[in-house]
Amino acid sequence: HLFGFKTNRVTGFFEPISPSKEDELILPPGYRYDVVAAMDDVINAAGERFGDGADYNAFFPIDGSNEHGLLVTNHEYTSIFSIGPVKDGKMTPEQVKKNLQYLGMSVIEVRRGSDGAWRMDTTSRYARRIDGFTSFELTGPAAGTSAVGGARTVQGTFANCSGGVTLWNTVLSCEENFEDTAKASNLPLEHYGWVVEIDPFDASYRKKHTALGRFNHENTAMGLANDGRVVVYMGDDKKDACVYKFISKGKYNPALGRRNSALLEDGTLYVANLKSGKWVPVTIENVRKALEGKPEELKKWNHQGDVVTNCHEAARLVGGTPTDRPEDIEISPFDNTVFICHTNNDSHGNIHGHITRIFEADNDLGALEFDFEIFAAGGRQSGFSSPDNLAFDSNGNLWVVTDISSSSQNKGVHKTFMNNGLFVIPTHGPSKGVALQFASGPVECELTGPFFTPDERTLFLSVQHPGEETKDLANPTSRWPHRPGDGKARAGVVAITGFRFGG
Ligand code: FEO
Ligand code: CA
Ligand code: CA
Ligand code: CA
Repeated sequence: HLFGFKTNRVTGFFEPISPSKEDELILPPGYRYDVVAAMDDVINAAGERFGDGADYNAFFPIDGSNEHGLLVTNHEYTSIFSIGPVKDGKMTPEQVKKNLQYLGMSVIEVRRGSDGAWRMDTTSRYARRIDGFTSFELTGPAAGTSAVGGARTVQGTFANCSGGVTLWNTVLSCEENFEDTAKASNLPLEHYGWVVEIDPFDASYRKKHTALGRFNHENTAMGLANDGRVVVYMGDDKKDACVYKFISKGKYNPALGRRNSALLEDGTLYVANLKSGKWVPVTIENVRKALEGKPEELKKWNHQGDVVTNCHEAARLVGGTPTDRPEDIEISPFDNTVFICHTNNDSHGNIHGHITRIFEADNDLGALEFDFEIFAAGGRQSGFSSPDNLAFDSNGNLWVVTDISSSSQNKGVHKTFMNNGLFVIPTHGPSKGVALQFASGPVECELTGPFFTPDERTLFLSVQHPGEETKDLANPTSRWPHRPGDGKARAGVVAITGFRFGG
């Protein structure tokens, strides 16, 4: 059947596809994709190259255009195709260096041509790489404290998973599984696991905001409390980890532009207690109170810098509820409810994951009490498993990508789902909660980073780690994107077009 999804401006239609095992990005009839950038593609005149493990994408129009702008992409992890086979789990010094170079972020300039195809513009003055060697300024309660070895500036960003756009048009990028790279590179663990902010139009602007806590950050979803304070929702993507929100002390002032970024340096970090329905402050006072009468354990908690740096532990001490790997969080533009992908947790049988929906008290993102429901559950009945990144279109249809691990794909209870895909789930109306498949990714990939242009006529999407189970470079399990003469798989970003709109 043809599925119509209404948005505020437009109505689009697509014929849902079936799960597939093909080594191809499959879309409904009438839709097409262009590979905008893939691993190792040159992005600028200086010869810098697009990184590996494409994840989050954010599009920034130039002069208000929906067909010309900057695209910011996260590079989460490397693969055999970028750094070669890692022998006995130990990278050589050359691989350690390459690993840091292939990670981080890319800023590229993209344009839709008169032929309708999207391409990268390598003459761009903005295009650049941010990698494991680029310096960042620490802000907030941990900066300069003993918790981070006194550092105010740190080396590099890596393990950049998902992210978010701020109200002042910068990008927040989330350092997720940073531990292995930090250790292999002899870098202090406390300098990673933060939320990074960059300005796509200003290369000199690079911060890590410690007030937002240090954990295995998935993404950020920014909104405003009813009183104008900035609210940032975040998940800690680990088994039995918590859901957070940060509320700034000051209020957002649109006239201040990027200077609003200072709001991310001073505020309160809260963790969700799903039983009491309360947001509990993750503060030094609450941590010390929880450890009253335990002088040995109290020793490591001296100031808020200690709390934000050891956030996972602090959150559990103050009563944060452990959950099943919270990945992307998005705020519905339709009704201000908050959606969280709990991707899965095989430690206690949540194999297919679910999407949780939070209802803040009085519909105020600044509220300290909430209720919640399981909005959709993964499994045979819904047709998807292991939801990960989320994007809303302007009428509250949720676009959900899945992340069934490559080692589980097409096996056991994951058989019927086949390759990872992209699904559309209306959050209201007669089809509420029904998942319709829009895309199927190539072999052993995960689709990541769905991001619409403002007119919703283009959807940027990353194809992450195609062929990641490859052991022998001569025999890759995927060769996506199948460009002529290419013998290996390359993670990359595509622009999907063909959205059919009408009255
Ligand atoms: Fe990098 Fe939680 O996904
Ligand atoms: Ca993810
Ligand atoms: Ca995932
Ligand atoms: Ca991933």
